[in-house]
This record gives sequence, structure tokens and C-alpha cells, in this order.
Amino acid sequence: MSRIAFLGAGNIAAAIVDGLLAQNPAARTDLVCLGGSGKSAAALATRTGITLANSLDELLASADILVVAFKPQHLAAADPRLADLATGKLVISVLAGKRLATLEKTFPHARNLVRAMPNTPAAIGAAITPYCSLAPLTASDRLAVEALLGACGQYLELVEEHMDAVTALSAGGPAFLFEFVAALRDAGIAANLPPDISARLSIETVLGAARLLARRQIDPEKLRDQVTSPNGTTLAGLRRMEAGNFRGVIRETILAAQARAAELSKNSSSQIFPC
Ligand SMILES: NC(=O)c1ccc[n+]([C@@H]2O[C@H](COP(=O)([O-])OP(=O)(O)OC[C@H]3O[C@@H](n4cnc5c(N)ncnc54)[C@H](OP(=O)(O)O)[C@@H]3O)[C@@H](O)[C@H]2O)c1
Repeated sequence: MSRIAFLGAGNIAAAIVDGLLAQNPAARTDLVCLGGSGKSAAALATRTGITLANSLDELLASADILVVAFKPQHLAAADPRLADLATGKLVISVLAGKRLATLEKTFPHARNLVRAMPNTPAAIGAAITPYCSLAPLTASDRLAVEALLGACGQYLELVEEHMDAVTALSAGGPAFLFEFVAALRDAGIAANLPPDISARLSIETVLGAARLLARRQIDPEKLRDQVTSPNGTTLAGLRRMEAGNFRGVIRETILAAQARAAELSKNSSSQIFPC
């Protein structure tokens, strides 16, 4: 395996490292990390056995791939020496809202640049990560990118113009789904279920339904119709959802998040959210 350097060693870097080591524990000798002023990099190195670099030079000395995994607002103030230190390397950024053209200003001599947008299920190897690259990937770089993103779950290549929509749908999606589960739980409590029972039923119902959907590979509407008898209880609930414009609200949710992502990616030096 190529030597991989992680600049930023927080949640997402840890998820990638954990995924890579789960597939190949011996790979720890090829992984090296560096954080900011806090303790995350030392903690990651101690927990996983990967190398802790003491400086940018040490981080990048023998690395072939650089994973950029700090907060987006730190990019504008990134060490200018990165331009030379990353010469000839494949740079993979997971920074929300940072476009390839913006990243290129920090890494002008990189062999190629990849922009990837994982989601929080990366922590358990269940992410879906869309990615795009500045120049078409060579076969060996594609293998390296897909091995790395595959360590967090699934991945797919998309053109960059879709990245704001992706930020809304799949990166923000877990938050929207968590909100849905919370609403389901509260509704169960309103229907007089004990809170712990309502919480458990809500989580397991969403999990089971999502697994069934993934397993059957058919449209969600078909599965919905299979549990909806004429004049039955589910139909009564679905009618209420329709009357409350459920689909319209979800559509507006995604479009609002997409619009915000577009706004933030235009402003290269602004404060920006994780996703
Ligand atoms: N979490 C997600 O699910 C998710 C999803 C999609 C994209 N992302 C992107 O992933 C990136 C990291 O997110 P996260 O959740 O992993 O954040 P995090 O847990 O807060 O970790 C941030 C890391 O960056 C380090 N850091 C801070 N300043 C730095 C600097 N100047 N140079 C180098 N490293 C620096 C921190 O080190 P110290 O601890 O030493 O300060 C820490 O290791 C963000 O850009 C976010 O947009 C995250």
C-alpha cells in the first residue's frame, strides 16, 4: 500500500484509518497523521498504532497520498509550505464546501486532487461517499481512492456540479433522518407509549425498513403500497402526511441545504459548517 498521510486527525480521519486497518491491520506502518494544536492526532496514533508526525515535513516526507481532513475554515490559513510539500502527491480532500479550484490554490503541484463528501455513518463503515477529481484519475490513483473511500463504506464518482446537492442529500441526510426518528419517537409518546419503548420501536422500524428497501432493490413506493390496505390504518396515516405536504417539506429541506452549500462554497474564506 502507498504511504498515506492524514492532515487533520478527527472523526472522519479516524473513521478512514479504522476502516483501512480493519481490512489490513499491517497497513498501520503506512499511515501517518498530524493534527492542529489539540490532542486528536496523538490520540489517534496511540489508539491505532499509526505514526504520529511531528511536523508537516515529517508527515509528507515519504507519503504518496495526502488526506486533508481538517475543518474547512482552516484551509484559508493552511501552511503555505503545503504547496511544495505536496508536490507530485495525490491529495484527497474531505472538506465540506471546498471546490477543486479552491483546493488547487493550496496544492498547485499535486499529482491530482480529489474532493470527497462522506457522511457520519463512515464511523461504522456504512458511509456513502460521492467524489470527483480535478483531472481524470489514472487507473492506479482510482484504485487508491476507491480503497480509501471503500474503507468507510460505499462510494461513487460524480461530476463536481453535483457536490452541493450531495452535501445536502447524503452528507446532511443522516441529520434529517435522525430528526425523522426523533419525530417518530415523540409521536409514539403522544400516542401513550412509554418513551423507551417508543424510542426503540422508532429506531428499529427505520433500520428494518431501510434494510428491507436495500435488500429488495425496488422503489420505496412499491414497498409502501405493500403495507397499505384500502381503508386501513397506514392509509389513514399516509393521507395525513400528504395533507401536511410531507414530500414538499423534504424537498424544501434538501433545496435549502443545497442553496446554503452553494453559498458557502463561493465564499472561500468564510466560516463554514462541517456538513
Ligand atoms: N464528520 C463527518 O461526518 C464529515 C462528513 C463529511 C465531511 N467532513 C469533513 O471532514 C473534515 C473533518 O471533520 P471532522 O468531523 O473529522 O472534524 P474534527 O473531528 O473536528 O477534526 C478536525 C481535525 O483537524 C485538526 N486541525 C485543526 N486545525 C488544523 C490545522 N490548522 N492543520 C491541520 N489540522 C488541523 C484537528 O486537530 P486538533 O484536535 O489538534 O485541533 C482535528 O484533528 C471537515 O472538513 C468536514 O467538512 C466530515
